[in-house]
Amino acid sequence: MQPVIVDVDTGVDDALALAVALAQPELRLIAVTTVAGNVDVGQATRNTRLVLDWLGARSIPVAKGAASPLLRKHRDARAYHSPDGLGGAVLPVERGGPILDTSAPEVIVRAARRYAGKLCLVCLAPLTNLAIALRLEPDLPFLIDRVIVMGGAFAVAGNVTPAAEFNVWSDPEAASLVAQAGFRIRWVGLDVTELVRLERSRWERLGNATDPRSILAREVGRWAFEQRGLTSFALHDPLAVVAAVREEFIDWAPGHVIVRTETDEVAGKTVYQSDPDGRARVAHRVNSDGAQAFLERALGLVGKGG
Ligand code: BDR
Ligand code: CA
Repeated sequence: MQPVIVDVDTGVDDALALAVALAQPELRLIAVTTVAGNVDVGQATRNTRLVLDWLGARSIPVAKGAASPLLRKHRDARAYHSPDGLGGAVLPVERGGPILDTSAPEVIVRAARRYAGKLCLVCLAPLTNLAIALRLEPDLPFLIDRVIVMGGAFAVAGNVTPAAEFNVWSDPEAASLVAQAGFRIRWVGLDVTELVRLERSRWERLGNATDPRSILAREVGRWAFEQRGLTSFALHDPLAVVAAVREEFIDWAPGHVIVRTETDEVAGKTVYQSDPDGRARVAHRVNSDGAQAFLERALGLVGKGG
């Protein structure tokens, strides 16, 4: 089992990604760190704690991270994720697990040292915490085994501006530092995440769900399907977790990634440069049927209760 930290801005799809991570026998989730992104960091931390508690993962600590990007103002995505970020989900829990006093970047650094060469970091949010962790420990790229980032838009348009995807656009300076730091890193961008989706028809069958994971999917899906009237939404963050355990669902291109920061028009644009010896891999194709079926099983959306 590989020790894993997931960094989130919970968020509808972050919530589902946590459920997927908890369901993987290959992964041992040792902590979840939070950052400002879809919602402010306080809300992201409360949402994260709630989702873990709901899924019976009270023993997994949550650490709160950066309240704003390195240089820019925080701009949320509540319009997409609902005012509370969780689609108005009702998830009654009796007792909550811990929120650490230690900050998210510090937790990442301590875990990287403790599990030197073994830790996997899955980043599903703006990369502010990892950029701060790099300042605290410049050797981080060689202490961490691998980083998986849900972020970027390489051969496709962005989802915030034509150039940029939300997580990279939110804190392009942080993403740029992370991209240049020399991590063994996999970028799971919109090129593949837009193709793996939760369909409304599947969600509508969750009315009598009994499995906590499928109840979670039912609850967090309300905003998208009932308020926004969508027919499906992309499982961005869950697919990044799939990439951690089933990399064969994705075709990867080796090389380097450059994040542009110079003007508002290009801020957050991710550029791929091919290099067979590069430590980065960029997802450029996905077996969407395979990944979707895998995710539906991991989220308890098939069979009894789903
Ligand atoms: C990313 O942005 C956020 O809104 C989602 O949670 C995901 O991490 C997709 O662009
Ligand atoms: Ca996210």
